Order: sequence, then structure tokens, then C-alpha cells
Amino acid sequence: MPNAIDPLATRRSVPPLLLNDPAPEGAVLDQLLTVATRVPDHGKLTPWRIRIIRGAARERFGDLLAQVFGEANPQASAEQIAFERARPMRSPLILCVVSCAREHVKIPRWEQTLSAAAVCMNTLHAAQALGFGGSWLTEWYAYDAKVRAALDVAEDEKIAGFIYIGTPKSVPEDRQRPVLADVVSEWTGQGTRAES
Ligand SMILES: Cc1cc2nc3c(=O)[nH]c(=O)nc-3n(C[C@H](O)[C@H](O)[C@H](O)COP(=O)(O)O)c2cc1C
Repeated sequence: MPNAIDPLATRRSVPPLLLNDPAPEGAVLDQLLTVATRVPDHGKLTPWRIRIIRGAARERFGDLLAQVFGEANPQASAEQIAFERARPMRSPLILCVVSCAREHVKIPRWEQTLSAAAVCMNTLHAAQALGFGGSWLTEWYAYDAKVRAALDVAEDEKIAGFIYIGTPKSVPEDRQRPVLADVVSEWTGQGTRAES
């Protein structure tokens, strides 16, 4: 039986420019999305959704980024505009994960937002498990009103991430990881009293 922990212990984001064709499609993409959306979700609200951007839609998305960037930065050079237009072309598949957390009598918005983050993380794990690579990015356009509107993201929704997916040309060297002792500590409860 393969060791399930090894892929988790060695997973690395692969930058979009290192992600080539082929991208997952058909039944494989369905499997990826099924795993991606199998996340903890307090109250079963499914407070997130996913938009797929691929094929020629990437070019249209690039045109949109170039237009919005150009309008916001009238002094931008032709190279800068071309750079923005090329962003979505870096990888063959982009999944836009939208957090649609809403007011709820019992489930705080924060918990709904966390569930969307879990979808993003699961997407990365599922992509790797299926032999692909991915990167979770927001860049400037996740926060831009015109781009959000074009993606049908409502004002009270947020883009949790654009997950760029494809077949890795190479995988970068690992980055520095947190020292466990810096981020993990034991709580003993000794000497603690609730304030009354
Ligand atoms: C919500 C979120 C947004 C991110 N947005 C960006 C981004 O816009 N640009 C970037 O270079 N990295 C961004 N990152 C970080 C990348 O995902 C980065 O490649 C990753 O942290 C590398 O770590 P890993 O190899 O452990 O996945 C973002 C991470 C998160 C969680």
C-alpha cells in the first residue's frame, strides 16, 4: 500500500509558468473537483463555488485583465499591458474559487470563509494526487471590482483564490518551512482561571 503521507509531506506549489498542458479534463477533472469540494462545511451550507477558466476563455480573461489594468494605469507601457494579458495563459486551467459566505443564524461567516479556503487547499492536494501541479494565487485581480463583476462575483462575495493547474515542467526546490516549536505549543491549563 503506498504511503499516503509522503505526497502530503512533500507537496509544493508549482508556479503557473511551470504548468503546461495537459490539464485535467473530463472524468479526471470531475474527480479533482469532487475531491476539492469534499471539505468540512459547518451547517452544510456549501458557502463556495468554483468557476472554470480554460481554453479560449483564458484569452478573453487576459483581454479583460489588460483592459482593466490599462484603465487603472493609463501610464502603463505596452509591455506591462502585454504582461497582464498573458497572465491567464501561464497555465492550461484556472479554477476560481468564490467564497459566498452569508449571514446565518448559527454559522458565523468566518467559518464559511474557512470552508472556501479548505476547497482551495483540497484542490492543490487533489491536483497533485492526480499527477498535476497547482498554485493558489490571488494577484491584484481577485480584488478588482470590474474583474469580480465580469466573473459574476457579487459584492458580498470574495474570491478565495485562482488555482492555476497543469502538468509541472519541473517542481521548484522546497521553501523554508516553519519550525514546529515556533508555531506549536502545549496548553496545560495549569494556573489558568476564567475571569468572572
Ligand atoms: C490566499 C492566498 C493567496 C495567495 N496569493 C498569491 C499571489 O497572489 N502571488 C504569489 O506569488 N503567491 C501567492 N500565494 C502564495 C502561493 O500560493 C505560494 O506559492 C505558496 O505559499 C507556496 O507554498 P507551498 O509550496 O507550500 O504551497 C497565496 C497564498 C494564499 C494562501
